[in-house]
Amino acid sequence: MTDPRTTPAPEGVRTDVAHNARVWNHWLGGTDNHPVDRAVGDRVTAMYPSIGEVARADRAFLGRAVRYLAGEAGIRQFLDIGTGLPSAGNTHEVARRTAPGCRVVYVDNDPAVLALARTLLAGSQPGTTEYVDADARDPERILRASASTLDLERPVAVMLLGILNFVLDTDEARRIVRTLMDALPSGSHVVLTHPTLELGGEGNEAAMRFWNENATPPITARTRAEFAAFLTGLDPVDPGIVSCAHWRGEPGAVRVAQFGAVARKP
Ligand SMILES: C[S@@+](CC[C@H](N)C(=O)[O-])C[C@H]1O[C@@H](n2cnc3c(N)ncnc32)[C@H](O)[C@@H]1O
Repeated sequence: MTDPRTTPAPEGVRTDVAHNARVWNHWLGGTDNHPVDRAVGDRVTAMYPSIGEVARADRAFLGRAVRYLAGEAGIRQFLDIGTGLPSAGNTHEVARRTAPGCRVVYVDNDPAVLALARTLLAGSQPGTTEYVDADARDPERILRASASTLDLERPVAVMLLGILNFVLDTDEARRIVRTLMDALPSGSHVVLTHPTLELGGEGNEAAMRFWNENATPPITARTRAEFAAFLTGLDPVDPGIVSCAHWRGEPGAVRVAQFGAVARKP
């Protein structure tokens, strides 16, 4: 992994404003971030002390959901939109530990994630893992670009973890999920996490306001009803919509203010 503390920023990467992918990396204990990301990330932590726990719970949920999908649900293809910077337990690593033949397409629109895409793809058989530099608001393009790696006639798990919160218009966010799931066959799944103000999390709302004034892209929280609407027409997998820490999590796991769910297209 590169160390941005000593390596010049790659082309297109702005180091004068905090970016979500890099701040998320900071909260997860990574080093692929810049002083501006650490400064904003630490201010958010001071206002909303459980944000680091949210990030770790979200990644742990990713691991449990992918293990369930590649195991019990028999899924062999993953479309991970809003990938984030490479971290411990990336989707293709978790999936292939359960089912070695899994294919994965990663999508993100942050130039810092693009710059590290090679790290993400290293070690994979050619043609089995791909990175697409695209915006979630263009699901048609994402589907076209994925078709050279994934067989879209067969079930796919669409991962949208911590990303629809950056699509501020709820109708647009719903259209993204609907467009992706409409294009995929029965047996496909969607995996979602999303911040909310309905599960506690002291300082969450003020921290989001601070984020929107000082960092990019702007974020929004959503209610359980808004989150549930993303799953319209799909069958939620047990235990349904819960704090992502509680989705098949360790007994007694501390609740975080982030919904998590997995749902299957009938
Ligand atoms: C909170 S991080 C989550 C990373 C990872 N999914 C996880 O759960 O650990 C959100 C990611 O979504 C990406 N992102 C935000 N808005 C996006 C958009 N409109 N299109 C594509 N990616 C986006 C950010 O660059 C960032 O990498």
